[in-house]
Amino acid sequence: MQSKIRVGVIFGGRSGEHDVSLMSSRSVLAVLDPQKYEVFQIGITRQGAWVTGPDAWSALESGHVEGLPTALLLPEPGRATLYALRSGRLEPVSGLDVIFPVLHGTFGEDGTLQGLLELADIAYVGAGVLGSAAGMDKALFKDVMRANGLPVVDAILVTRREIESDLQGVIARVEGLGYPIFTKPANLGSSVGITRCRGRSDLQEGLQEAARFDRRILVEKGVPNAREIEVSVLGNEHPAASIPGEIRPGDEYYSYEAKYIMDNSELIIPAPLPQDVTERVRSLALKAYQAIDCAGMARVDFLMDARSGELYISEINTIPGFTKISMYPKLWEASGLSYRDLVDRLIDLALERKADRDHTERQFRRGS
Ligand SMILES: Nc1ncnc2c1ncn2[C@@H]1O[C@H](COP(=O)(O)OP(=O)(O)O)[C@@H](O)[C@H]1O
Ligand SMILES: [Mg+2]
Repeated sequence: MQSKIRVGVIFGGRSGEHDVSLMSSRSVLAVLDPQKYEVFQIGITRQGAWVTGPDAWSALESGHVEGLPTALLLPEPGRATLYALRSGRLEPVSGLDVIFPVLHGTFGEDGTLQGLLELADIAYVGAGVLGSAAGMDKALFKDVMRANGLPVVDAILVTRREIESDLQGVIARVEGLGYPIFTKPANLGSSVGITRCRGRSDLQEGLQEAARFDRRILVEKGVPNAREIEVSVLGNEHPAASIPGEIRPGDEYYSYEAKYIMDNSELIIPAPLPQDVTERVRSLALKAYQAIDCAGMARVDFLMDARSGELYISEINTIPGFTKISMYPKLWEASGLSYRDLVDRLIDLALERKADRDHTERQFRRGS
């Protein structure tokens, strides 16, 4: 009998999307086939403590992690082992074949965790360091899109320092975009710190609000009558795009409240779009994915001017919401891939990518 694949599932985390990660990872843990996988839970608390054990998920959910051993992954190659540290004693729990980080936002989706996993030389689901970091920073992401001739809305990057030292100068520089203007922290998600500014006083507040959450603040021209279209992408070298879906936010835009509190936003699958627009959205999603060297999965989000039909790539999420009812898996389901098969496929892709990386020569010796 073939031995089981040993999967470490990492969830929780220090980002504002800790709770979203718990919801996503609950669905992933529930669907990993025990015939096929041996699963190890690795939880990261809001404070950043790593814990492990078969009840790590429940412990995080209830907020009682006392008594659980500290989880450790060492950043040296050749081990690929999960260790538990308990009362000063370090014990190996198990070797790991692959890690599934189900973490959203900072310190999980932004390349930092991926850096640790690269050093540790373990296979992991999703984008690498570069794709994660480039996907996380909305300003850099837009620059890469522009450099590849892909459509994005006009935007200006300002720094927190500029806002603090010369707010009026910043306002004068960005107002030309024309209201409404969106102010956003460059590296955040879930609409946290975002303001839709209708005029100068909103703008002033919006800039200061965004600057609370990041050093880099993106000021973006608002797309009028924006329709929000999303596409799921899956794969490494030859990624595939799902059918597009559409979000109809229950607020004036897809705000934090609309996403998590009001519960009145609609997911429409497939997005009602003419065939040629559907094909264009899917093809743009693949180009965006490849431009930042994504791997495994990502959800590519678009804004569409409902009047002119103009399409803009808005952002990419390299670890998108992953509950059974989240857009990413729903789009695959509607494209013929079940949630369970999607999780299997992501693990296969992680192992494939690792095998590919193992072909890279790390040491150059002259004449060899
Ligand atoms: N330029 C824009 N024009 C119109 N709506 C926007 C624009 N930028 C953001 N929004 C609205 O704000 C929401 C959140 O912005 P987004 O850039 O997707 O950040 P997040 O990573 O927090 O989801 C979008 O889903 C959309 O509703
Ligand atoms: Mg978004």
